[in-house]
Amino acid sequence: MKTINIAIFGSSGAIGKALCLEYSKYENINKVFAFSRTGENLNSKLITSRKVDYTNEESLDFESQSLNCKLDIILITIGALNNPEKSIKDLSADKFLDMFNVNTIPTALIAKYFLPLLHRDRVTKFASLSARVGSIEDNQLGGWYSYRASKSALNMILKGLSIEQQRLNPKSIIFGLHPGTVDTKLSRPFQKKNKEYFTPEFSAKKLREVIESKSITDNGKIFAWDNKVIPS
Ligand SMILES: NC(=O)c1ccc[n+]([C@@H]2O[C@H](COP(=O)([O-])OP(=O)(O)OC[C@H]3O[C@@H](n4cnc5c(N)ncnc54)[C@H](OP(=O)(O)O)[C@@H]3O)[C@@H](O)[C@H]2O)c1
Repeated sequence: MKTINIAIFGSSGAIGKALCLEYSKYENINKVFAFSRTGENLNSKLITSRKVDYTNEESLDFESQSLNCKLDIILITIGALNNPEKSIKDLSADKFLDMFNVNTIPTALIAKYFLPLLHRDRVTKFASLSARVGSIEDNQLGGWYSYRASKSALNMILKGLSIEQQRLNPKSIIFGLHPGTVDTKLSRPFQKKNKEYFTPEFSAKKLREVIESKSITDNGKIFAWDNKVIPS
């Protein structure tokens, strides 16, 4: 059986950790590299924990060079939603930059240092957790300027990467994912009493199914947990 290597960035987060554990259940997995800011251990013999600073190029360069193997899948699950703006009056340059530093720039820098580790001669997948609210067409409510913009920008980065990487490997598939509304540290301040939320484990299971199902025709698109395309 062909075995595969996966790198997951943001493994200290609820969805990132659940994805590491979800993938570690399957027989075709050789190694899951779990990257976080703390290097937290996830207690599975298939999972190797690594510490990295997502916005520090030296740290990313060092980690990519020390991995010593080719990768089949790269998943990025880093993100934050802090004090989202109800109105443009709430916006500040600092808040805007904070959102880009956590929701957009890490994926671009991880791509710079880790895309070269993906195989060139077989199907590979690179995906980052975006959000439905990053869709410009789907924006019915306004507000949340900096979070929405950081995820829209992330979607554009993914689209660009999907074009560039196809030139190196026609079997490369790069896409964005919306995990659903999941009960995590990120969503907790915005949860409503009568609404149901996915567990991180349920979301990770659905996301793995979506990732498994992707083929070349999906390159550059954004998909929700239920495999439906989200408009740009
Ligand atoms: N939960 C939802 O309902 C929902 C909905 C739509 C999209 N998403 C997206 O799903 C992804 C995962 O979110 P989650 O719900 O699993 O949240 P979470 O449990 O809060 O995990 C967030 C992850 O991002 C990292 N992170 C947070 N702030 C950071 C910063 N300033 N710099 C670097 N890393 C930082 C965290 O690292 P530390 O542990 O080191 O802080 C953690 O690994 C995010 O991209 C989010 O936008 C979530």
